[in-house]
Amino acid sequence: MLPHLTVRKEVLGHRVAAAETREASAGTLLPDAAEPVREPQAERRVVVRAVNLGKVFTSSFTARKKWAVRGLNLEVFEKEVFGFLGPNGAGKTTTIKLLLGLLRPTYGSIEIFGTGPASPASRAQVGFLPENPSFYDYLKLGEFLRLCASLSGLRRRREVERRVAESLFVSGLIDHEDVQMRKFSKGMLQRAGLAQALVNNPRLLILDEPMSGLDPIGRKEFRDSIVRARENGMTVFFSSHIIADVELLCDRVGIINNGVLEKSGPIGELVQQEVRSVEIVARDVAEQAAVQLEPFVEERRTVGDAVVLRLRDELATTLVLGTLASSGARILSVTPHKETLESVFVRQVTRSSLSRASGADGTLPGEGRKKRVFRREWSRL
Ligand SMILES: Nc1ncnc2c1ncn2[C@@H]1O[C@H](COP(=O)(O)OP(=O)(O)OP(=O)(O)O)[C@@H](O)[C@H]1O
Ligand SMILES: [Mg+2]
Repeated sequence: MLPHLTVRKEVLGHRVAAAETREASAGTLLPDAAEPVREPQAERRVVVRAVNLGKVFTSSFTARKKWAVRGLNLEVFEKEVFGFLGPNGAGKTTTIKLLLGLLRPTYGSIEIFGTGPASPASRAQVGFLPENPSFYDYLKLGEFLRLCASLSGLRRRREVERRVAESLFVSGLIDHEDVQMRKFSKGMLQRAGLAQALVNNPRLLILDEPMSGLDPIGRKEFRDSIVRARENGMTVFFSSHIIADVELLCDRVGIINNGVLEKSGPIGELVQQEVRSVEIVARDVAEQAAVQLEPFVEERRTVGDAVVLRLRDELATTLVLGTLASSGARILSVTPHKETLESVFVRQVTRSSLSRASGADGTLPGEGRKKRVFRREWSRL
């Protein structure tokens, strides 16, 4: 008999439903041949489509309503990595549960591979790693993955073995098949969660904050696994608030805040490409040169025996460098600063929080505002 179930019900519930129509497809997780061809986005198939999605939670005790997701429109294309960015409580997990059919939307519609998210046909093509996965402590990883494979409807032994080997490979746990999962570190458990999400050879991988709590090496290893999954032709949708990971991995991102999708698109479109400021680090800067350059310098500070000059305008760079060089200063570095995804994220989240606080979104601060927001949303049902 199986030990006491400790795997989250989302993982296994999702898997059992998926098994209902699971065909013993003969696909493989390992790369077949050459590099994947990156098709132009316009020609790519839409894998996930959410239209005007909304979810309200009602407390059974106080009957208070809480809007977790409001009017969300989202498209994820085939074979892309989509990063779903948002602060704590923004509505990421709720959206993911809606996309998986684990929650029912209050309004709006969702299509996964052209069908409803709760349909076994779409679930059979999805792998899911929940936010806080927990596992059977006394099962070895290989045993756990075979259990997941059988819950996914894989019957033939050879096929199960091949899928287990492939998901171990992609998740980077090939040497840990015979280790009990209670002996795993946090990073290994996350990758075990990824392995179970891969075992049914899904076409869409949905990962809820897969890299939170991992150290830099663990994050790097997990990112490598996501890259391997993408190279095998999978579409990856993952939520995160670790902006560096999103920047490194994603083709497109969506920023959600307070249940509203504030922005979405390719990173290059969200982040302005032009240089915003230039930082020059130099040594032996004569006071006279420093005074001469003052009109061009926004900020001047001293770090050790070096002087750091932040320029107001990129166009002044050549002039400032020339003046410094002719006054005998030694230039140590010149760094152009562009806008980062982090600054876009912080600006977007701060701006929408401020606009809500000031009532600029059509409501007034205070308790009355909450009621009005609710009434407005409710009227849309
Ligand atoms: N079952 C529930 N009942 C009531 N409110 C809920 C429920 N689940 C989520 N919420 C609320 O919905 C909002 C969005 O929660 P959600 O878990 O989706 O956020 P999140 O973006 O995943 O946050 P985090 O980064 O902390 O995981 C929060 O305000 C949360 O309190
Ligand atoms: Mg969450």
